[in-house]
Amino acid sequence: MKIIVLNGSPKGIESATMQYILYIQKKFPQHEFKILNIAQQIKKLEKSDEKFQEIIEEVKNSDGIIWGFPLYVMLVPSQYKRFIELVAERNNEDAFKDKYTAVLTTSIHFYDHTAINYMNAICDDLEMKYVGSFSADMFDLMIPKKREQLILFVENLFNAIENKIPTTRKNLPLIKHPFEYVPEKLEKEEEKIDTNGKKILIITDSVDRSSNLGKMIQRFQSCFSTIVEVINIYDLNIKGGCLGCIQCGYDNICVYKDKDEFTEFWSVTLESADILVFAGNIVDRYLSSRWKMVFDRSFFNGHIPTLREKQFGFLISGPLGQIANLRQIIESIPELEESNFVDIITDEYADSKIIDSLIYNLAKNLIMLSQSGYKKPQTFLSVGGNKIFRDAVYGRMRFVFQADHRYYKEHGFYDFPHNDKYAKKMNEKFIPLTQNEKFRKIFYSVLKTEMIKPLKSIVDNPDK
Ligand SMILES: Cc1cc2nc3c(=O)[nH]c(=O)nc-3n(C[C@H](O)[C@H](O)[C@H](O)COP(=O)(O)O)c2cc1C
Repeated sequence: MKIIVLNGSPKGIESATMQYILYIQKKFPQHEFKILNIAQQIKKLEKSDEKFQEIIEEVKNSDGIIWGFPLYVMLVPSQYKRFIELVAERNNEDAFKDKYTAVLTTSIHFYDHTAINYMNAICDDLEMKYVGSFSADMFDLMIPKKREQLILFVENLFNAIENKIPTTRKNLPLIKHPFEYVPEKLEKEEEKIDTNGKKILIITDSVDRSSNLGKMIQRFQSCFSTIVEVINIYDLNIKGGCLGCIQCGYDNICVYKDKDEFTEFWSVTLESADILVFAGNIVDRYLSSRWKMVFDRSFFNGHIPTLREKQFGFLISGPLGQIANLRQIIESIPELEESNFVDIITDEYADSKIIDSLIYNLAKNLIMLSQSGYKKPQTFLSVGGNKIFRDAVYGRMRFVFQADHRYYKEHGFYDFPHNDKYAKKMNEKFIPLTQNEKFRKIFYSVLKTEMIKPLKSIVDNPDK
């Protein structure tokens, strides 16, 4: 069998993910594996359709495709996403149709599920036969039991190809409802909003002012009594996607720092805003690869939240309601930045009046919440994610991400449960006592009332 591996690591063959592939290759010498360094070559593939078509030919002539990539900011690296976009832009989807496929990714399991969901959806959209995904921790290959599982996974893929096993489809095709948004002037009762000194920035990839997104942005701007600045991420000089070199881990300085405008854009422009509105078009099952490049490049900050204490709004053009995975990714951004997620307005309502009023309301809320300093409680999106970072930075990743470690130490990120003196005392006291059946009976009969006692004391004295 001929298996094509589409390598999504910008590091090319010097990639952790590709070590898994090379291992598989050694274990299955009866099959031919060909690794194509997609992400590393993306600029060439963009420039030369001839080079791009060579990849497409390889895909056509294969028995199976492995999408092998590192997790980058909850998804695939921007360079890989660009390749997926090129497949659609150059009408080469047919090459992938009916091909058996699987995903192999490495990461530290931070939002690996959203990247897998994304790739699964892309494979479904390409009408491929998606066998499954294998999400390995970066160093799982060192563990014999994990290697066994990897072999089983690959055997399953080969078996599916050989026996033409039917595969399930997780995602229905996206339905696009053509609609032109035509904003109107503010209603009489909609007064122009005073920003009250709050700095608002709109960041967008919209290049067409007459597109729905372009008009949504203008509508948003028109809600205010002063000019609200728009920055187009295509106008920024960004030399390329994140290279994955991790040199930033030491001091948060990107290797591109003096070569393009990205560091200044993030650390000066974005960080100085009180309110950020990210506006984007949905491209396939995410935003554009340009937006992805921005998120990937922000990795020079390591795992430190840098856009703190802000209000975030989103203007999105496209079928977000059909892509729950993307909604989750978007909602997680403000939370992980220790900021507040306010709302997402899309053009899916297909009713200009409704969109007008929702945008006005978003504009009002952003100012109001910025003034009051409201921040929603954290959810699993950041509580769970931050624990993964905390453990990794405290432990095995500390020598690489030294800047993270300094920040985490200074800002109380190392909140391991073993530092909780109260929990320690209670555990020491009650675990031995509950070994006794008689005590246990009494214990569980009063537990409910005892557990809410400290909360009740607050309710009983609300003004304390
Ligand atoms: C820019 C960047 C973003 C990353 N984002 C994530 C992430 O969202 N989740 C995660 O678990 N790991 C993330 N990682 C870690 C990589 O996925 C991990 O180190 C991977 O094994 C690298 O594979 P490679 O050597 O094949 O490129 C990120 C690494 C980089 C450089």
